Amino acid sequence: MKEAVRPPAAETAPALPHARSGEPLGPAGPTTVHYWPVEHLDALDFDPLLHRLVREEPVALVRMRYGEGHAWLVTRYEYVKEVTSDPRFSRALTVDRPVTGMTPHNVAPARGIGRTDAPDHTRLRRLVAQAFNRKRAAALRAETEATVERLVDTMMSRPAPADLADYVSGPLPERVIGKLLGVPRADLGRLQQWRAVILSTDVPVTQTSTVKSDIAAYFRQLADHRLREPGDDLFSELAAAEARGDLSRAELVSLSVMIVLNALDQVRNQCTSMVYALLTHPEQLAALQADPGLLPSAVEELLRFIPQRCGVGMPRIATEDVTVGGVTIAAGDAVYVSYLAADRDPAVFTHPDRLDLTRTEAPNLAFGHGPHYCLGAALTRIQCHAVLSTLLHKAPGLRLAVPPEEVRWRRGTINRGPEALPLAW
Ligand code: HEM
Repeated sequence: MKEAVRPPAAETAPALPHARSGEPLGPAGPTTVHYWPVEHLDALDFDPLLHRLVREEPVALVRMRYGEGHAWLVTRYEYVKEVTSDPRFSRALTVDRPVTGMTPHNVAPARGIGRTDAPDHTRLRRLVAQAFNRKRAAALRAETEATVERLVDTMMSRPAPADLADYVSGPLPERVIGKLLGVPRADLGRLQQWRAVILSTDVPVTQTSTVKSDIAAYFRQLADHRLREPGDDLFSELAAAEARGDLSRAELVSLSVMIVLNALDQVRNQCTSMVYALLTHPEQLAALQADPGLLPSAVEELLRFIPQRCGVGMPRIATEDVTVGGVTIAAGDAVYVSYLAADRDPAVFTHPDRLDLTRTEAPNLAFGHGPHYCLGAALTRIQCHAVLSTLLHKAPGLRLAVPPEEVRWRRGTINRGPEALPLAW
């Protein structure tokens, strides 16, 4: 099935005489600020503005619904890698800046790992890496595979149709993250409710602030509990690191919040969308069924191809003037990169809007790049791999139980994915 790249919904604001007040734009600078309301998109449709900018204006200026002023948006693969590995773009400086953005509130906590720079950022990453060691990763892989087997068996023991998100891709990350972080299963319902509010794009700030305090209080209590009764989990190790003075309580709490929010939401969406993408590209599914050895490259291509979020993630602030793609980004300017757009860059990927499970051109940037590269990438790959391989093996006749256009997609939330995916086998 061909994915729609819709005609641009973004309006282009009138010509901008100056990039920043008082400073004329250089000859290579953009002359317009694109208004980017980040409209809701269904299925695997790709954002029309990103599609255009990566081809025509890889370093552009945008203004979104919330926040102040405008920000740079970098979309080309090569430039995205440049910006995200250049320490002259700071995350810590975003803390008190109301940078234009797509949500009324800041999704990432102020002391969160995503909004720190080296050396604090390096210290936090090292602590997580130590706690999430090889032994724990290997145990999680084996457990994930066994959990997926059980979840798929349960789904298939009932009469079709059944919702993949309900039976498999929703419960899976709950079990994995519950085990990894040592979160009691009885608390997952509450965490899911908080997740839905924090990741929404249209809930008022008063409501998100209350929920952020609730989730922080929850993890503070859990930390006290784990200090008294440590378990064999990442959270207990981080609590012990706090007791040694290696990280603060605020850092421990915001790190846990980031991990839980990402783990519960993204893996569910990603696994469900991957199955949808395969079932709506029957020739690709047939190739994978004929050669299951393709699975690792199939997972990578699906990660590249699926637009798993709306809009963009967190901005960075330039600490000095930096030239990117011939455009000067001035000290103090806010900059976003789009990993989604970079993964559809025609300079890197031939026919970028085509799903091709045999593709080998370049690594995808779905998990980001540079020092802030996603901490959950390995865990996500393990889960997606296990879901696809188990379904391929156990359900060779797997199909959508409704026409593709009847699949409902999540709305009003920053991450994209099906609301439900009714399957038959
Ligand atoms: C499909 C699944 C996922 C995708 C596509 C994804 C993508 C990303 C991206 C693009 C970033 C930001 C890179 C940047 O700031 O430049 C990121 C950061 C992060 N992700 Fe993920 N993620 C996924 C799953 C997960 C999971 C399962 C976890 C936790 C277990 C997780 C935890 C984090 C954390 C803690 C960060 C912040 C890292 C830092 O700032 O140093 N993510 N992720």
